Amino acid sequence: MAARKRASTKDTTTTTDPTETTTPHKHLETTTDPPIAPPKSGVIIKLCLFFSIPYFYLLFYHYKIDQEFKKSILINAGVSLAGFFVTLKMIPLASRYVLRRNLFGYDINKKGTPQGTVKVPESLGIVVGIVFLVVAILFQYFNFTADSVWLVEYNAALASICFMTLLGFVDDVLDVPWRVKLLLPSVAALPLLMAYAGHTTIIIPKPLVSYVGLEVLDLGCIYKLYMGLLAVFCTNSINIHAGLNGLEVGQTIVIAFAILIHNIMQIGASKDQEYQQAHAFSIYLVQPLLATSLALFSYNWYPSSVFVGDTYTYFAGMTMAVVGILGHFSETLLIFFLPQVLNFLLSVPQLFGFVNCPRHRLPRFDPLTGLLTGTNDGTLVNFYLRTFGKMSEKSLCFQLLVVQAIACCFCFVLRYVLAGWYK
Ligand code: UD1
Ligand code: MG
Repeated sequence: MAARKRASTKDTTTTTDPTETTTPHKHLETTTDPPIAPPKSGVIIKLCLFFSIPYFYLLFYHYKIDQEFKKSILINAGVSLAGFFVTLKMIPLASRYVLRRNLFGYDINKKGTPQGTVKVPESLGIVVGIVFLVVAILFQYFNFTADSVWLVEYNAALASICFMTLLGFVDDVLDVPWRVKLLLPSVAALPLLMAYAGHTTIIIPKPLVSYVGLEVLDLGCIYKLYMGLLAVFCTNSINIHAGLNGLEVGQTIVIAFAILIHNIMQIGASKDQEYQQAHAFSIYLVQPLLATSLALFSYNWYPSSVFVGDTYTYFAGMTMAVVGILGHFSETLLIFFLPQVLNFLLSVPQLFGFVNCPRHRLPRFDPLTGLLTGTNDGTLVNFYLRTFGKMSEKSLCFQLLVVQAIACCFCFVLRYVLAGWYK
């Protein structure tokens, strides 16, 4: 469904890089596309510092966390760091391969400028997905004993994430119709739903207990339906809040970081082993997600030298849904997803066919000024531009990521204010 071309393999020898036409002899020699730009290391160093300082402060200093948990979290962080470097190295390599198979897109928000004619390698989320899975699989060796009850759910979670990555890649290659796309995550969630043996109860909010007459409600099968719907929502909502350089990965990084902080706070504040274990479980999957996504971000941040594809948006959405389900904090997760919920609500008329839905619902780019203007398509990106006026793609993406961070902070404040009164 992308703007890319899946041309015949004969076309692989042609190159459309405008810069090459200025050196004719080079043009004759070049039979493949030029290598992608190097990673934007400055962005990554700043982000790593920004994330690691508060995170390790909470882990080592602020809370008295059990040594065993600390050890597992640190081993996981170490393997994730290795995953970060592998992803960083693999992306340029994989870019060459995807370009060779004509899997690329044109940067729509640069149309009319030389950058808009460059073939940008598409679906690099496949590298992140594979490295993530290898990291998560290897980590089991260090952490779980052979009889650990967590092992079944951990592997079911990995199967769902793997299935989702595969279906995302299928979508990138085959251009699946939009309505089928919506349903793919419910298929990918099956391994987890079938293996799930955890509780299916929800705690009724205290103010509602007198009306419902129960403190705890067992939802049974409906709980599994809810889990499936959460997976469908998380994956698609990331996929449709997209189309700006860095937005897909950027929002994932912000949410993943918020999930990590939330988990550390919960482990630190609780004495219940099983509760702590559920949150540690979620850390073991989110740390590799964050590390590998940071590596992808260094290539995808403005100006993007690679696109992430639906492979990444589905993979990231499914991973976050899985950790929310198994960590039992899906309500908190949905508040972290507030901008995505808003984007979904704005999209409802187009998604459900009440209003015409074009293939791309992106803003209008003016090549003369380099600024984006909001269109009438129902997305948060357009709504933001219509409200705050024209701006450049880079600054728009940055501001939307700040909005995402504000939503996460709002969630922490809300949890603090409602603690004890709500649940
Ligand atoms: C979803 C959105 C669509 C949006 C697209 C952008 C809905 C219903 N669908 O479709 O409106 O236009 O994502 O990702 O809301 N691209 C850029 N710059 C970027 C990222 C992507 O120009 O920073 C373009 C490229 O041409 C790329 C294509 O978007 O090839 C990828 O689109 P794809 O992910 O296939 O779109 P959908 O997920 O189907
Ligand atoms: Mg997409």
